[in-house]
Amino acid sequence: MKIYLISLLVFSFGFLFLRGEDDTPLYLDPKERIEDRVDDLLSRMTLEEKIGQMCQYVGLEHLRKAEKYASKEDLENNDQQGYYPGITSYDVIQYIESGKIGSFLHVTNLEEANELQKIAQKSRLKIPLLLGIDAIHGNALVKGTTVFPTQLTLSSSWDDDLLFRVAQATAREVRAGGSHWTFSPNVEVARDPRWGRCGETFGEDPFLVAQLGAAFTRGYQGNFGKDNVLACAKHFVAGAEPVNGTNASPMDASKRQIREIWFPPFKEQVDAGVKTFMAAHNDLNGVPCHANHWLLNEVLRDEWGFEGFVVSDWMDIERLHSEQKVAKTQKEAAKLAVNAGVDMHMHGPKFFERLLELVNEGKVPEETVTNACRKILETKFLLGLFEDPFVDPEESAEIFFDKESRELALEAARKSIVLLKNESQLLPLQDKAKILVTGPNANNQRTLGDWSQRQPDENVTTVYEGMKKIFAGGQVDFINCGTNIRKPAALETEEAAAKAAEYEAVVVVVGSNSLRFERKEKTCGENVDRANIDLMGNQLELIKSIYENNKNVIVVLVNGRPLSEPWIKENIPAIIEAWEPGSYGGEAIAEIIRGHVNPSGKLTMSFPYSVGQLVYTYNHKNMHYFHRHIDLPSSPLWHFGYGLSYTTFEYGAPVVENKSIEKGDSIGVSVTVRNTGTVAGDEIVQLYVRDEFASVTRPAKELKAYQRVSLEPGESRKVTFSLPYSALGFYNREMDFVVEPGEFTIMVGKSSKDEDLQPVKIKAV
Ligand code: BGC
Repeated sequence: MKIYLISLLVFSFGFLFLRGEDDTPLYLDPKERIEDRVDDLLSRMTLEEKIGQMCQYVGLEHLRKAEKYASKEDLENNDQQGYYPGITSYDVIQYIESGKIGSFLHVTNLEEANELQKIAQKSRLKIPLLLGIDAIHGNALVKGTTVFPTQLTLSSSWDDDLLFRVAQATAREVRAGGSHWTFSPNVEVARDPRWGRCGETFGEDPFLVAQLGAAFTRGYQGNFGKDNVLACAKHFVAGAEPVNGTNASPMDASKRQIREIWFPPFKEQVDAGVKTFMAAHNDLNGVPCHANHWLLNEVLRDEWGFEGFVVSDWMDIERLHSEQKVAKTQKEAAKLAVNAGVDMHMHGPKFFERLLELVNEGKVPEETVTNACRKILETKFLLGLFEDPFVDPEESAEIFFDKESRELALEAARKSIVLLKNESQLLPLQDKAKILVTGPNANNQRTLGDWSQRQPDENVTTVYEGMKKIFAGGQVDFINCGTNIRKPAALETEEAAAKAAEYEAVVVVVGSNSLRFERKEKTCGENVDRANIDLMGNQLELIKSIYENNKNVIVVLVNGRPLSEPWIKENIPAIIEAWEPGSYGGEAIAEIIRGHVNPSGKLTMSFPYSVGQLVYTYNHKNMHYFHRHIDLPSSPLWHFGYGLSYTTFEYGAPVVENKSIEKGDSIGVSVTVRNTGTVAGDEIVQLYVRDEFASVTRPAKELKAYQRVSLEPGESRKVTFSLPYSALGFYNREMDFVVEPGEFTIMVGKSSKDEDLQPVKIKAV
C-alpha cells in the first residue's frame, strides 16, 4: 500500500507540476479529446520513441529469475524462455527510461507492474506501459486469481451471456493484477483434435466460435472503464487445422475455405470492436501470416475496417528468417512484418535497432511507424493509463478470487459439463452411496487447464474433494494410482482394481494434462500435439481392470481436446465429459454425479473415432461419406451438439413464419420444446440450414442459431429464432457472397445428428 501511495503521489505531483507550466502538454489533459491528445503526443515524439512504442518485452521478474537460476550458457544463447541473451534486467530498465519500450507481457505480480510504471514515469514523455497477459480463462497466470473453465469447456454451455460475464470478471482481475490487455479470445476454428490447443478455442463451428468470441470481446472491453481490458482476436489465421496436427505447421486452404470457415469469427470480433489482433504462427498458402499484407491490410483493415493494432506472436517475426525462410536476414524479417501490417513486436531486443535502420534507409516508411504508434497510444489513452497507471495492492487483494467470481466459476462449470452416457440411469448416485474415486486426474489441479499457474490448493476443488463435500452423507474413498499419463505404464492399476468390488460405484477420472507447470508430464496444451487421440499411458487399462470387478463405473474425462476410446463408449455405463472446468470444476462434477445439478452442456467439437477419420466435422459436404471407410462407421464417436440431461425434452415440429424469404428480410422459425421428465433442466436448442441445390457444393448442414432455455418439469416453451437472409449465403464460383434462389431445409433439434433434427423447407427468392 505504501509503495502504491508513494507512486501515486510522485505521479500526481509530476502531473500537477507540468500542469502548472505555461506549456502544459495537451496530451496530459484528460479533458481533451483522445484524437487530439494522440496528435499532440505524436508531434513531440522522436522516431526512436515512436519505434519504442512498438516494442514489447517480458517482465523484469522473469529476467531476474533467469539471472538467478539459468545457466550462463542459457543466458547467453537461449531465446526460447524469454531470456535476452547478453541483456540484463538492468539494461531493460534503461530501455524503459529512454522510451525504447512501450509494452510488457507476462507481468504476473502487481508490485512489478507498479515498479515498471514508475520507471516509465522517468522517461522523457512519461508514456505509461501497456501490460499484456494470457488471461484466457481468468487471469490464471497470476497466483490467487479465479480460474474459469477453459474456452472449449465454456463453449459447451452455448451461453453467450455466461461467457460475457466470465470475460467481464476476468478483465476485472487482470486490471487488479496491473495488466491492461488480454491475449484472448482465441477465435480459431478447431478442426483437428491432434492439435494441443483445441482447449483454447470455442470448437469447430465458425458461427458458434464467432458468437462466443464476440461475447468475450464485449465482456473484456466494455466501455474501456477501469475494470476493462483490451481484447485480442488471435491467431489470425488458419492455425487450428495444421497440416500434421502440430502447432504452427503450415496451412494450405482454398479461398472458399478461408472465407467460409476461418474468417467469420475474426470478422465478428472486428464488428464487436476488438482493439487488437495477433497474427498466427503458421503460413497460409505459402505466405507466413506475419508477412501477409493481403491478410493484415487488405482484408483486416481495408475490407473489414479494423482500426486497432496487430501484435506479432512470440518470436514469429524472427521465424520469418529462421524457420519460414522468406527473409534472408532478421532485419529483412522486421521489414516484411512491419510493411505487411504488424504494429507491435512480441517480444525482446534488436527489433528496435532493426526497424530504426530500416526507416532511416527508407525501407519502411516513417508513416507506417507513426500509424502503428498512433494506434498503440490510442489504447493507452482509452484505458486511462495516462491518468493513473498504478494498481492498489489492497484493492486488488479484495478483487482476486472474490465471492462473485467464485460463484461465477462454479456456475460456468455447472453449465458446461457434458453428460455423454448414462445407461440404466446409473446417475445420479444416492447421497448414502459408498464410492471409490481414483484416476490420474482425480485429485490435482488438472481441472484448471492450460495458461494457468499452480494455484493455492485451497482455491481449487479437485474431483475427489468435490465428491467428499457433496456426498458428505456417504463414504468417499480415494486411491492414488499415480498421475503420470505420459509414460506408457506409469499408473498403478492393481490396488484400485482389487478394491473396486467393495464399492457401490467407482468414479475414474482420466483424460489429459494441460498444466504448464508440469511441463514434462503435459499431454495437451500449447506445443503439446499428438499423433493419436486415444487416452495416453495406461489409463484405458486402469478403467478396464476396475470394470472387471465392478460394473458401476463412471468415467469422468478431464481433458483439453476430444479423446476417443470406443471401448469406453461401448462398455462403461456412465461417461461425463468435464473438459477443464476450472477452480470449482471438481465441485460441479460431484454435483452432477449426485444430481444436485442437471447436466446441460453439449459438445462443440465432434469426436472422431480415430485419427484416420480426420478431418471430421459435422458441417462436412455430402460426398464426404459417399464411400465410407471399410473399418469405421461414417459417423463420429460423439456428435457435435450432443449432450444428455437427467430429464427428457420433446420437440414439436418447427414452424416458419413465411415459406419464402427475400433479400433484406429475416425469417422467424419457432419450435415448442417441452420438458417431459421429472426434474428441471436446461436444453440447448439448435438450428441448422442446408442449401438443397447450389452452384458449388455446400455442407450437409450448418449451424445458424441456438438458444439455451431452462424448463421446469412439464413446462413447454416456444423458442423463436430470427434467421437473416444472409444466413443462407455462401461464396459462389466467382467468390462473391450470394444467396442463390431455391430451396433450403431448416433443421431444428437437440444435436447435429440427423435423427435429432426435424426439418422444415423454405425458399429464397
Ligand atoms: C502463443 C500466444 C500467446 C503468446 C504470449 C505464444 O506462444 O501462441 O497465443 O499469446 O505466446 O504468451
